[in-house]
Amino acid sequence: MAAFSLAHVSDPHLPPLPDPRLSELMSKRLLGYLNWTRNRHRYHRRDVVDVLTSDLAAQVPDHVAVTGDLVNLALEAEFAPALAWLKTIGPPDRVTVIPGNHDTYVRATAHRFAEAWGSYVAGDGAPDRDDIFPSLRRRGPLALISVSSAVPTPPFMATGWLGKKQMEALERMLASLATEPLFRVLLIHHPLRSTARSKRLTDSSDLLTLLKQYGLEMVLHGHDHIHSTIRIDGPNGSSIPAIGVPSASAFAHGHHPHAAYNLFSIARDGDGWRCQQTVRGINDALQVREIRRVRLL
Ligand SMILES: [Fe+2]
Ligand SMILES: [Fe+2]
Repeated sequence: MAAFSLAHVSDPHLPPLPDPRLSELMSKRLLGYLNWTRNRHRYHRRDVVDVLTSDLAAQVPDHVAVTGDLVNLALEAEFAPALAWLKTIGPPDRVTVIPGNHDTYVRATAHRFAEAWGSYVAGDGAPDRDDIFPSLRRRGPLALISVSSAVPTPPFMATGWLGKKQMEALERMLASLATEPLFRVLLIHHPLRSTARSKRLTDSSDLLTLLKQYGLEMVLHGHDHIHSTIRIDGPNGSSIPAIGVPSASAFAHGHHPHAAYNLFSIARDGDGWRCQQTVRGINDALQVREIRRVRLL
């Protein structure tokens, strides 16, 4: 059987930022807006995300996972351009989207991503609603398990939270999938371990406990805007790769590298799996090239 190819792209923070209405800035958005106009617009660039996206589409992956932060301040006028961008990647049945904290930046529009991008977000056979997480999509040998760690937070905070209800539903989903020969991939915006208190997943220890009990094959996340691979504990002494990727629109700044995405080639190998990661990203001249290949499993 041919290998299944899964692309992972995250955190495009799609520019340009539309002009906010004054009423939209009467909130945490004001700080975010000032940050955007002073700093972030310089290193989240449209030309970068466009060149990265067209390279990704040219690879014709079987499926694409987008792990959140499509927009910046969750302004009403940001959701339609983000949908247009998703359509350049692929149709909803070939692209799975989960929200990031910037997609639920303030309470007033925290539900809008699910309405605007519904068919890209919803699980198989699930209604397009905002309480659909965890959701499940089956594609080839994959079970794509989406959770939402995106919640509105106070100013200067970018923490994530799954909550008891979602965690309990996730446990039921993992228990039912454990008996099937599937390559299970968890999609979550926040990393499972973080050294930054203001950016962490607050209930990550509960999630790590669940994953150690039930296991899965891979975790994909965004949020930190860096290349990252850690191993977390699975059942019976096994380990699970958890992989983060830079922002899809980033021109390198500070400790944040240039924009990149990952391509995973996944195939059955006896009783187990083979999984190779190919990292592709831009250089200073905005050319996309292969950065490295890693055998994950
Ligand atoms: Fe982000
Ligand atoms: Fe984020």
